[in-house]
Amino acid sequence: MATYANIDAFVTKHLLLDLTADFDAKTLRGTAELQFERRDPRATEMVLDTRDLQIWRVESAPPGGAWSDTTFRLDPATPAFGSALRVAVPAGADRIRVTYSSSPAARGLQWLTPAQTAGKKHPFLFSQAQAIHARSFITLQDTPGVRLTYDATVRVPKELVAVMAAEARPGEVGSGVFQFHMPQPIPSYLIALAVGDLTFTPMSERTGVWTEPAMAAAAAREFEDTEKMMKATEALYGPYRWGRYDLLVLPPSFPYGGMENPRVTFATPTVIVGDKSLVALVAHELAHSWSGNLVTNATWTDFWLNEGFTTYLERRIVEVVYGRRLADMERIIGLRDLAQARKDATVAGDRTLLPALSGRDPDDAYSVVPYEQGALFLSFLESKFGRGAFDRFLRRWFDEHEFQSVTTAQFLEFLSKHLLSTKPGVVTDAQIQEWLHSEEVPGSAVMPQSDALEKVEQARDTWLSGGSMDALAKTASAWSTQEWVHFIDSLPRTMDTGKLAAMDQRLKLTDSPNPEIAHVWFRLAIANRYRAAFPAMERYMIAIGRRKLIVPLYRDLAATPDGKKLAAQIYAKAREGYHPVAQGTLDAMLK
Ligand code: BES
Ligand code: ZN
Repeated sequence: MATYANIDAFVTKHLLLDLTADFDAKTLRGTAELQFERRDPRATEMVLDTRDLQIWRVESAPPGGAWSDTTFRLDPATPAFGSALRVAVPAGADRIRVTYSSSPAARGLQWLTPAQTAGKKHPFLFSQAQAIHARSFITLQDTPGVRLTYDATVRVPKELVAVMAAEARPGEVGSGVFQFHMPQPIPSYLIALAVGDLTFTPMSERTGVWTEPAMAAAAAREFEDTEKMMKATEALYGPYRWGRYDLLVLPPSFPYGGMENPRVTFATPTVIVGDKSLVALVAHELAHSWSGNLVTNATWTDFWLNEGFTTYLERRIVEVVYGRRLADMERIIGLRDLAQARKDATVAGDRTLLPALSGRDPDDAYSVVPYEQGALFLSFLESKFGRGAFDRFLRRWFDEHEFQSVTTAQFLEFLSKHLLSTKPGVVTDAQIQEWLHSEEVPGSAVMPQSDALEKVEQARDTWLSGGSMDALAKTASAWSTQEWVHFIDSLPRTMDTGKLAAMDQRLKLTDSPNPEIAHVWFRLAIANRYRAAFPAMERYMIAIGRRKLIVPLYRDLAATPDGKKLAAQIYAKAREGYHPVAQGTLDAMLK
């Protein structure tokens, strides 16, 4: 397990935070009070997770009683999990309070300079706790097996706004003090904070978007269908349990596409492309409000219960709101990403639904395998039992496990009892085992199909075999992001430079404002050593920190000696703007 916490002895029930964001020192400092339940009456030591924290003081108190200092010890750090903080807990105590500060290099935080923001005037701070980075800015039991409620006071420079993934308590505008309350019990990886020049734009009664002022209108337009997505998801899987659902658009260095922080999804600005073509990301993060936030993987090995379910739900939501055509394109693209992820994996178990994580940081096993193999598994079950029955089954799974953390074994038992048994023999145990353990897509999978993408392949073939650029450009003018991505990605990796240049000139690929299209184009340019695209690619790699969009470019470049040199040159300029987790990935790759 990726935690040091002795949860068989103590379990945190409620957390009280009082933190100050100091942008000069790049530190969060203050107190974390953990109110706990004792599981083992004889236990005298509570073990907490930390990483790179300075611990100044630890106190304990009995119910309703006064605080008094208690002894503590910080173990040496391990690279995978950080340092255990061992706190002496007197008999009768039911809370401890730790005074601490985070390191400027905390892995779960990124401190941005004004230059790295859209407005260029104010600094920005955001947290990203999943999988095990909450411990780099809060001392806690950092495991998804423990759920807690919390209250927080956050103190920031007066001109900035703090947003947490919780209910905001009304406060005095411009005071620099913000208070939050999270009434639903959540796992630690869902604690989240952002501080910056943030403004709120409502989209519906219960949805809205936080952005820097310059992006407010574009973001609200891009995400305007969020309420429709909520209604679609509720119709399928039951009521939304979290009150509001807002989005918070981060600066482009955010290392992920999106993060399902409760009540407010954190999102990359790279999906704001003007035509809503990339809002499956919202469907995905929203879906986590059921699969993940409501019913949570108990350990990181069970991650597919979060991401596989969510990927399946995401495409069902897209199907309702945008139609089957887009959903099927996403399914095909997912299948291609799955094959690529399996090729890229260096640990065999990471090609299966159940990676072996012992001793490893869960981030090291991260790939789309649990997403796509998990979604295919659920589609397989759907095909065997029918959509209606499968939808009712999933809804029941969420209802009966709400606010719980669950294991794969629990899911299999529930599956067998409430679905498999309704049609004995239709799905065999051997098939289930294959879905969990196979390093490939099982033969029983229902393969997605997309007429739209087949048409793209026809247009590609016609052009490659001598068809006119005009005809291609005419067809392409109606393409969505997904069709463009499929077209470019399926072009041969060695092409005539003249043909590439002609295509670039006509289709304006090097200067594409769409980061997904630019990404696949740059990969094609690297493969073909099409240097005309490299200056734009370098600007892109400096401006964007989303791992999915930049890591493959560095990897492709690093495959040749010349390319490796260029990768190192670009990285030298880009690194300081990247998030610590992106830096970690690239430091390891380019060392
Ligand atoms: N929960 C994940 C992001 C994550 C996973 C962060 C593991 C840290 C550790 C989020 O829901 C996600 O999957 N985001 C995807 C986008 C989605 C549309 C597939 C991403 O960021 O690429
Ligand atoms: Zn996800």
